[in-house]
Amino acid sequence: TKVPVITIDGPSGSGKGTIASLLANQLGWHLLDSGSLYRLTALAAQIHGVDLADEDNLKVLAAHLDVQFVAATESEPAKIILEGERVERAIRAEDISLLASQVAAITQVRQALLERQRAFAEAPGLVSDGRDMGTVVFPKAPLKIYLTASAEVRAERRFKQLKESGFSANIDQILEDICARDERDMKRVSAPLKPAEDAIIIDTSRLTVTEVVTKVMAEVEARG
Ligand code: C5P
Repeated sequence: TKVPVITIDGPSGSGKGTIASLLANQLGWHLLDSGSLYRLTALAAQIHGVDLADEDNLKVLAAHLDVQFVAATESEPAKIILEGERVERAIRAEDISLLASQVAAITQVRQALLERQRAFAEAPGLVSDGRDMGTVVFPKAPLKIYLTASAEVRAERRFKQLKESGFSANIDQILEDICARDERDMKRVSAPLKPAEDAIIIDTSRLTVTEVVTKVMAEVEARG
């Protein structure tokens, strides 16, 4: 039995997380925020004092992440529990963003997370967002979307997100961090960030969230 998968890739701040979660809701499908797995690996490394250079142990951490994803309910937001602790806020901090993108450049770590990601493809369907969903993890997905936006617009969005979650933030620093992360994600050897050959590319710089969702839903409907 083949489960339909929609992949949504793109750089940070392109809107993929927001769009993926709205789509999954509208369709009643499962959601995979693959970036959270790299963030969780980074946080686990920080907690256990595993150094970035220690690739063997990073791989082991990634392969054995003790994590539970608890979906949101009407009264409660989604939860992520790592080794018994709630971490959905901790994994969004800037230092973890940076560490996650460094950990994500390690081939062994990516390998260790591959099957875990594929296991999210369960009936009735999956919307998955990340950097290599359409190119590596779900290369046969029938609908692949690649979202982009200018670096300035993306920095602005990230700034707002951080503020709203109560983190202190500096817009110039964020722009710099975003550019450094994109560069690392695009230039790495293992599963670099790039659109799949059959991806539909949408520049979201001047689009509202609703407009992007409408465009993607039109593609879903066109495919029946
Ligand atoms: O999407 P998010 O910003 O949460 O991802 C954190 C980091 O994880 C990214 O900067 C990227 O380096 C890495 N990542 C990845 N492949 C994915 C998702 C995220 O390499 N599919």
